[in-house]
Amino acid sequence: MKKILITGASGFVGSHLVEEALKRDLDVYAGIRKTSSRDFLKDERINFIELNFGDKDQLSAELGRMKFDYIIHNAGVVSASRLEDYWRVNFEYVKNLADTLIATDVLPEKFTFISSAASYGPASAEDLTDFLTEDDEPNPINTYGKAKLKAERYLAQLPDFPYVIIRPTGVYGPREKEILTFFKLINRNIEGYIGTRRQHLAFVYVKDLARVILDATTSSISQKSYFVSDGRYYAQWDLGKYSKRILNKKTLRFHVPTSLVRGIAWTLEQFSSNGKSPALNLEKVRILESVNWKCDIEPLKEDLNFQPQYGLEEGLEETLAWYKENGWL
Ligand SMILES: NC(=O)c1ccc[n+]([C@@H]2O[C@H](COP(=O)([O-])OP(=O)(O)OC[C@H]3O[C@@H](n4cnc5c(N)ncnc54)[C@H](OP(=O)(O)O)[C@@H]3O)[C@@H](O)[C@H]2O)c1
Repeated sequence: MKKILITGASGFVGSHLVEEALKRDLDVYAGIRKTSSRDFLKDERINFIELNFGDKDQLSAELGRMKFDYIIHNAGVVSASRLEDYWRVNFEYVKNLADTLIATDVLPEKFTFISSAASYGPASAEDLTDFLTEDDEPNPINTYGKAKLKAERYLAQLPDFPYVIIRPTGVYGPREKEILTFFKLINRNIEGYIGTRRQHLAFVYVKDLARVILDATTSSISQKSYFVSDGRYYAQWDLGKYSKRILNKKTLRFHVPTSLVRGIAWTLEQFSSNGKSPALNLEKVRILESVNWKCDIEPLKEDLNFQPQYGLEEGLEETLAWYKENGWL
């Protein structure tokens, strides 16, 4: 039985990765922190390993005890209160982990790094036929994306390091907490958007993402990077259209001018204390207002025969049903 370590196992994507790995009869080690919730890690087959990516000695001691066949490094911050947290967790901790594996001589067959389309994008706002491809010059527009890109580049220059980089676009599904805010408003008959310009958004349902990540991890492919979406493109109001139908809601729709949202985020940042970033901040607004998140998934189809089983509407059916069953909506 092959051993797999999945870091960030307590989170949204991580808990689905754990489920997918269990389905494949892998010996699953959930990499967590002392403080991590185990709410979505109840299966008795799961082993737990506490890792402190900031402490190379602790990492070395823990990882030296057993050699993993596969590692999926999924732990990361998607929303940080301080900009330095993006650099620390999304770059330095990735570097620490890779360095420790090399120094301790416990390199796995595959090290899959969960990056983000934000490390490259967005694609052109002027030319809407444009989409993100591997050959593009990366142009991340926020600290989150810049830190992910720095981590990607670090891994790619390590000699003979068996990495695969996965760059998902917007991920949705059961247990997701950010897009949930939008659905909560829809549930209260409120449908809000930033600006009026049509966006070309890309999404992937978390179960499709987990499948392709496990496919990539257990394949013989190495030293390659892939964007992941469901291969279709959506306007921002498709989220509203589908969720209203599924939740059987009529809504009051409004558009907040982009400049106003930016102004509010800027003002909140000026008045925030202890260098902490407010919930609405310019980092987030830059991503939310980006027009074009199309990306190329042909390499994923060619190399891994990726065939997404869910479009946005089908994925939302399952997601919203889960939110309701679990009292999140
Ligand atoms: N959600 C998306 O749309 C999306 C899109 C593209 C890429 N991604 C990437 O996918 C990965 C998972 O994201 P998610 O949406 O599942 O986020 P999430 O639900 O917030 O999960 C993040 C996970 O990372 C762990 N983590 C955070 N900071 C850590 C630290 N300092 N030390 C150790 N573990 C830490 C968390 O552990 P605790 O539970 O202990 O906090 C949690 O298990 C991230 O790398 C993210 O950048 C997500």
